Amino acid sequence: MTSYSTFLMVWFLSINIFNNQEKNMNLKLLRFLLIILFTSTVFYAQTYKDPKANIEDRVNDLISKMTLEEKIGQMQQNTLNGIDNNVISEIKNGKVGSFLNAGDLEAKAKLQKIAVEQSRLGIPLIFGRDVIHGYKTVFPIPLGQAASWNPDLVEKGSIIAAREAAEDGIHWTFAPMVDISRDPRWGRIAESCGEDPFLASKLGAALVKGFQGNDLSSENTIAACVKHYVGYGATEGGKDYNTTLIPERELRDIYLKPFQASVKAGAATLMSAFNDLNGVPTSANSFTLKTVLRDEWNFDGFVVSDWGAVSELINHGIAKDGSEAALKAANAGVNMEMVSRHFTENLTKHIADGKVEQKWIDELVAGILRVKFRLGLFENPYTRITENLKTLSDDFKEVAKQSAIESTVLLQNEDDFLPLNDKFKKIAIIGPLANSPLDQLGTWTPDGEAKNTITPLMAIKEEFGNSIEINYCKGLEDARSLGTDYFKKAVETANKSDVVLLFVGEDYLLSGETHSRAFINLPGIQEDLIQQISKTGKPIVLVIMAGRPLTFGNITKDVKSILYAWHPGTMGGQALSDIIFGKVSPSGKLPVTFPRTIGQIPLYYNHKNTGRPPAPNQLGRTIGTPENPEGYACYYLDVDFTPAYNFGFGMSYAKFEYSNLNISSNKIKMDENLEVKITVKNTGKMEAKEIVQLYIRDIYGSVTRPIKELKAFEKINLRPGEEKEVKFTISSDDLKFHNIDMKYVAEPGDFELFVGSSSNNNDLLKTNFVIE
Ligand code: NOJ
Repeated sequence: MTSYSTFLMVWFLSINIFNNQEKNMNLKLLRFLLIILFTSTVFYAQTYKDPKANIEDRVNDLISKMTLEEKIGQMQQNTLNGIDNNVISEIKNGKVGSFLNAGDLEAKAKLQKIAVEQSRLGIPLIFGRDVIHGYKTVFPIPLGQAASWNPDLVEKGSIIAAREAAEDGIHWTFAPMVDISRDPRWGRIAESCGEDPFLASKLGAALVKGFQGNDLSSENTIAACVKHYVGYGATEGGKDYNTTLIPERELRDIYLKPFQASVKAGAATLMSAFNDLNGVPTSANSFTLKTVLRDEWNFDGFVVSDWGAVSELINHGIAKDGSEAALKAANAGVNMEMVSRHFTENLTKHIADGKVEQKWIDELVAGILRVKFRLGLFENPYTRITENLKTLSDDFKEVAKQSAIESTVLLQNEDDFLPLNDKFKKIAIIGPLANSPLDQLGTWTPDGEAKNTITPLMAIKEEFGNSIEINYCKGLEDARSLGTDYFKKAVETANKSDVVLLFVGEDYLLSGETHSRAFINLPGIQEDLIQQISKTGKPIVLVIMAGRPLTFGNITKDVKSILYAWHPGTMGGQALSDIIFGKVSPSGKLPVTFPRTIGQIPLYYNHKNTGRPPAPNQLGRTIGTPENPEGYACYYLDVDFTPAYNFGFGMSYAKFEYSNLNISSNKIKMDENLEVKITVKNTGKMEAKEIVQLYIRDIYGSVTRPIKELKAFEKINLRPGEEKEVKFTISSDDLKFHNIDMKYVAEPGDFELFVGSSSNNNDLLKTNFVIE
């Protein structure tokens, strides 16, 4: 019973008894007892413990019972380095609200028991972990999954990751990362959904839905944390943690978009980033944390700062010490401080001095408690999963394999060399990534185990070992090695085979946090290895596993086919075996532009036209000399200005023909929809999936507009000879941007609309329309 209904009942009884039987002493006593009962019921009412009460009432009730110290305790997240007396006493005294990396299930249960049974109010801890692209079953790196352009599949991956993580008592993942990145030097591009705000928005929302499901309190779901809010991917020079300068229009139209979509999809939490954004570090940025996130988007969960990011406000030079760092971060809207302890050490004094309002602290703490209630932690503080998975589940592995298949991008396939036909009876498998279980998992897989990984060598041997001669040599000790000891054997291995499958790329350590590169070519002497093997004259299928777009223009002529597999995860080997031998066609498309050379970076498809765009006849060649430049256009003297591979590009074993691009009208009003239809036919010999892409160009506006923007896509499956009509609906909402007055509007005028198989004009059919 709530305190309010108890109050009414007691009041009613006492008034009736008092009026009718005033002179009766016994009843006077009863009245007295009832009043005592009333007072104690009201005083001890535990609305926050009542699972049936609504969450806002529970939050308010709990806050009303908390001391200031306990509130600030909720704002502290610690990492666990063993459970000692200090850790125990902090939990007992309500001085910590969350742990990340809190050890195994048993350790977490031990900590949680102390929190719920021995702390004054029994507020459960929330345990966070980096569950980035799978937990035990590892999926392709996020950039690889983005290449699938398949939100449903991506969602399935995060459902599985949540299920496996929840079993280990994890409540909260620090994913998805939806930082737009246009710079492949940046190591964390591997964790991103690529360069496009529309694609990243769709995938970010899908990941959130997968982790969180429809009910955060159910046993299989965990809270998502969208990161790194915001602009972290625009780091200058591709160096991790570097300064970012993003004008507000671009911030809103490009970088904030996927965060907004993820918040709209229900993301419970966000992580504020490390970077300085336009002079104000994002972990102390009230414009992004308050104005945009809370006031405009009505976010009511909580923001955790990235690891030590509150402390780093001192290095950034906006706080003189930890006390000022705490003040700035809390006042800007960081609810929880990861690892550093400036909130714990300083907020009490700031409140006493009136520099931080008590009311604001209550709001920050409410955000944290709200998520804990939504997760059902007060009812079920421990893992809620009853049926344990003994090994990796076959169903989960199947999804991981499908994900790796759909993430793989076929970049080159001379004379339709792939898939391999059965005339090849002797196959060489060469290269440092052919049998490297750990590297194949990619960055950020603290819980994935190499022992579960199926490499290409294992998969091909398993499937064809009895029918085909398989000759293996790793060629190089590892991807970065400079030793040529294995070259001779590698050449011999190629010589005695009919075809060479050559697996090269980056080891897992070369991408991810802090792992930025100034050169993004194949590391070490892998190009030499490829060239040595190509001299044998044996046809080569090159498979590249990497955490970022690499530059490899020097060797494309030496190989027949190129498959870009990213770091494909646990089931990468089987996926690649199925692709190479033609069980299935690859169906990935690039979620990021591949430059020819680092000098072109940043290079992205949705760039502005400039006042001097190069003419179409300037495509594909370098023009003039430094002494005598020609053309005076926006290009390079020494390299073709176009990318090596366009955003959205990816080949197939099938052939897709696009025809009949049709729009409902060439003139529409602002509130009218444009219906778009296109026919896609598989004229090839194999069933395959195609990603149909729709781009818009707003030809002129009150501010300059990108030369193309992705506005819709659909992944379809077609059997040989089959055709489908694909339909899209475009509304004026899809055409909105921040105009000259920073209003989010669509402007009337002329538009181009393109539909096709990549962002390259040669792959697109085009039409025009006008908004009146
Ligand atoms: C730092 C990373 O930037 C962030 O992505 C990660 O979630 C935290 N560390 C916690 O491990």
